[in-house]
Amino acid sequence: MADLLNSDSTKADPGLNERVISQSRGLVGTVHLPADKSIAHRAALFSALSTGTSHIVGYPTSEDPQSTLSCLRQLGIKMVEDEVGLSISSNGLSGFEAPTKALDCGNSGTTMRLLSGMLAGQSFSSVLTGDASLSARPMGRILDPLQKMGAVIYSNSGRAPLRIDPSKGLQGMEYLLPVASAQVKSCVLLAGLWAKGETTVIEEVPTRDHTERMLGLPSVTIGSKRYISVQGGKPLKAQTWSIPCDFSAAAFFLVAGSVVPNSALHLPRVGLNPTRTGLIDILRAMGADITIRSERIVAGEPIGDIWVRSSQLTGIEIGGAVIPNIIDEIPILAVAGALAEGKTIIRDAEELRFKETDRISAMVKGLSTLGVQIKENKDGMTITGGKALGSGTVESYTDHRIAMAMGVAGLVSTGRVRIQGANAASVSFPTFWDILADLG
Ligand code: S3P
Repeated sequence: MADLLNSDSTKADPGLNERVISQSRGLVGTVHLPADKSIAHRAALFSALSTGTSHIVGYPTSEDPQSTLSCLRQLGIKMVEDEVGLSISSNGLSGFEAPTKALDCGNSGTTMRLLSGMLAGQSFSSVLTGDASLSARPMGRILDPLQKMGAVIYSNSGRAPLRIDPSKGLQGMEYLLPVASAQVKSCVLLAGLWAKGETTVIEEVPTRDHTERMLGLPSVTIGSKRYISVQGGKPLKAQTWSIPCDFSAAAFFLVAGSVVPNSALHLPRVGLNPTRTGLIDILRAMGADITIRSERIVAGEPIGDIWVRSSQLTGIEIGGAVIPNIIDEIPILAVAGALAEGKTIIRDAEELRFKETDRISAMVKGLSTLGVQIKENKDGMTITGGKALGSGTVESYTDHRIAMAMGVAGLVSTGRVRIQGANAASVSFPTFWDILADLG
């Protein structure tokens, strides 16, 4: 049984921030996942740019999307939450007011990078800050293109805090993404809404396409390059957004349902945008038993219901263009690799070092503590899997995806896995630990 204890029994002490997980005899049931974080940020931000009142059904309570809402409130955007959902009202592209204090993006890279694009063309100054993790992450990747467009931005040597001052006006441009990043792509396209003329972002490796889908931006693929364009001043109309469940949250249960014997899980209404679902193909290639039913389109995004059952996995080698597609799922894929027979090799994933923590190093340390034969490489890891996991104390490094990946590892440990910093899961999945306990 998934035996989840608040360690040392003090459930009443929310500051304890530890979870102890022990072996599960089978996870069975329906998992209600949180709404998609990437789509939620965008639904809120795009509603704040649309004329009129937009409605968002199922806005997540997790910390990152809430950071986006609190920044928008500070920018004078009015919102009301009731039992139906969240309503956001704005005057369109000129709807922001000057904030009176720094905009705190918390742990959320998507908030900071997308909002920077939206603030670069404003006639007031703003400052964006974040927590220790976000303040250590690279921002040069958005500063460069925004400055090329004419934005006036100061940073702490390429890191937050960022100060954005009014510019003489942004100029549209063509920008070839030097790093496969949907956050950078979105930042530049959003700045393009306030720029003169057309702004085109060119990507050589596909990244998640929620921004262009949700804003209805034209794109064309020529050879191996995809060109996505936006016209300065493009008016946006208020609308209703319905947010599917988060595929990146489903990923933990796709792996848990595969590696915990005697499991059968049902994950309804999961977002199946093909720029996000590479993990399904990889797990199937490893031998996973995953079925998708009732595929449909809701608010422009494909969704479906997923069933997963236990199976014996075998190792796999991955790298190249699939990496941006599965970038948030690699920590949990490493757990699948640890349970799979043979070698799993993950290459070309150096971007993981620039996430909420260095996710290559964090997973290698965590899984080695549990006795897994795993080697850290510059751009990934090599795992020799198939042996039972042992017990130990591991760290989340205050990274939600590391906390949850190590939680799933605990379900297949022969002993107990103590996860320090487990509360980090609330950044994207506040109910994660309760759901694991209920499924046991
Ligand atoms: C995101 C894009 C990805 C992803 C992040 C969310 C987004 O980051 O890791 O969790 O919503 O655009 P990069 O685009 O920087 O790789």
